[in-house]
Amino acid sequence: MTGYTPELRELIKKVEATRPQRVERARKGEHFPALTMEERKQWLNKYHPDFKSEERSKVRVGPNKDAVFPDEVRVLLESRSRLDPSGIDLSKADYSTDVLVIGAGGAGTAAALTAEQAGCKVLVATKLRHGDANTVMAEGGIQGADQEGDSPYYHYLDVMGGGHFTNQPDLASALTHDAPLILYWLESLGVLFDKLPDGRMKVRHGGGTCRKRMHSAGDMTGAEIMRVLMDEARNRTEGIKVLEFSPAVELLTDKSGHVVGAVLYNLETKEYYIIRAKAVIMATGGFGRLHIQGFATTNHYGATADGIVMAYRAGVELQDLESTQYHPTGVVYPEQNVGLLITEKVRGLGAQLTNVDGSEFCFPLEPRDVESSCIIRECLDSGKAVTTPTGRVGVWLDSPMIDMLHGEGTVRKELPAKHIQFKRYDIDISKFPMIVYPTLHYQNGGLKINEWGETAVPGLYSAGEVSGGVHGKNRLMGNSLLDVLVFGRRSAMRAVEYAKGLKGDLVPTLNHVKAFHEELKKAGIMDEACVGPMLIPDYSPDHVKKRQWGVATLRE
Ligand code: FUM
Repeated sequence: MTGYTPELRELIKKVEATRPQRVERARKGEHFPALTMEERKQWLNKYHPDFKSEERSKVRVGPNKDAVFPDEVRVLLESRSRLDPSGIDLSKADYSTDVLVIGAGGAGTAAALTAEQAGCKVLVATKLRHGDANTVMAEGGIQGADQEGDSPYYHYLDVMGGGHFTNQPDLASALTHDAPLILYWLESLGVLFDKLPDGRMKVRHGGGTCRKRMHSAGDMTGAEIMRVLMDEARNRTEGIKVLEFSPAVELLTDKSGHVVGAVLYNLETKEYYIIRAKAVIMATGGFGRLHIQGFATTNHYGATADGIVMAYRAGVELQDLESTQYHPTGVVYPEQNVGLLITEKVRGLGAQLTNVDGSEFCFPLEPRDVESSCIIRECLDSGKAVTTPTGRVGVWLDSPMIDMLHGEGTVRKELPAKHIQFKRYDIDISKFPMIVYPTLHYQNGGLKINEWGETAVPGLYSAGEVSGGVHGKNRLMGNSLLDVLVFGRRSAMRAVEYAKGLKGDLVPTLNHVKAFHEELKKAGIMDEACVGPMLIPDYSPDHVKKRQWGVATLRE
């Protein structure tokens, strides 16, 4: 019995026919040859969505004026505020705090814990519930050079190479040097990593790594880390207050343009709250829910680019935001799961990608942008795609190889969440392969920061996916869980220092919003500007939107 249709079952026979030979080769350590640097470049140029010139345009206002971004991002950067900056009373604060953290995923929670530990009063504002973020959905692992024969130096080289040397070196250096400390911190808080019988960490390769340094908790690594961080934050309610369903909609600045708080919007009561804060840490995550170039996404519902929209208006420059990460293996079938992540760990455990003929067509652990390009090529150019009943295309990810290579039960043990997710649709991934296609996974770029998470605007810090530069134009697996914790902690350390040194009363204004609106008017685009930040993605069909709101799309 299987949830695959008879037609797909027929196609699976071709994968089954080539499997014994492929397993035999894998056992001998033979694999499909990796691409040369020249071939990588060629495939990226031809097939990666970042290299398409269509659906991109120049942003007409703000610190990155004239830079080219994906249309979906550009439209939001040119959006106008939800607030009338002259019509809101800022004289009284609803809350005053030392450090305001905007966002409550891994970066926000790590920042809150660090700031509280240093003696600051912390307010965390989050759009949905505490922990509703991409961190909790991260599957495969977290990198860190804590094994014999590895070092932060090798990790650094991998990060830079994976990013095609477009990374900001000081950020990559901070990331990799802090990694062993972060693993130690997580263990000391109670994170249960996968271990070998002798108690050492179980580590694996990820795409583009020269050493095994991927630490995991099954295929629920992010959930395990978030479980512990949230628990810890809840144990410290004296110093950390969390406001749920309260997204920030605008930063507040003083007369010098320094950030001194934010305006929150309570999604339940529809009221605005004024927050005065000595320092603000932006930890709002990425832009997956903008579905750039129409791609499905692995991302959390709240990933709507809010942080970059607010910070951009306050004067923060953006970097690498023209670059988007498409994870090579997003679900294509069953339809209910489309876009969801199938962790790279599946390939790390030996599962190969094959086309409709059951033939391998690329090395399974190329860096993600290269791997995605290979899959797109196989589907769109080579005519070797598997087509689903709804007309989606993809390739096979041959997961049954895992049990054949490592012993019966390995899939269930190492990939319990994925196993259950497919079992719901009557597909046992230890027996049948999955159909996959690249899915929008990560915002590579973001706010420009230094190695302490400081932006160029005093009082504003940034951590996690909302920031750019750490991974350059391509991130390797397991470095985002690491990134959120490294820069969550670092940004908090600096924010605390800044907050403690601040003298005098905070006098908040929305002058930067007024100035931004003036710029929109001067560019002649105020009337066409949509309202931002987006906060919640709207999935109603265009004809319904037209009926309800008089607009069809974000662009109209
Ligand atoms: O494939 C994965 O498990 C994803 C991990 C990551 O993006 O770091």
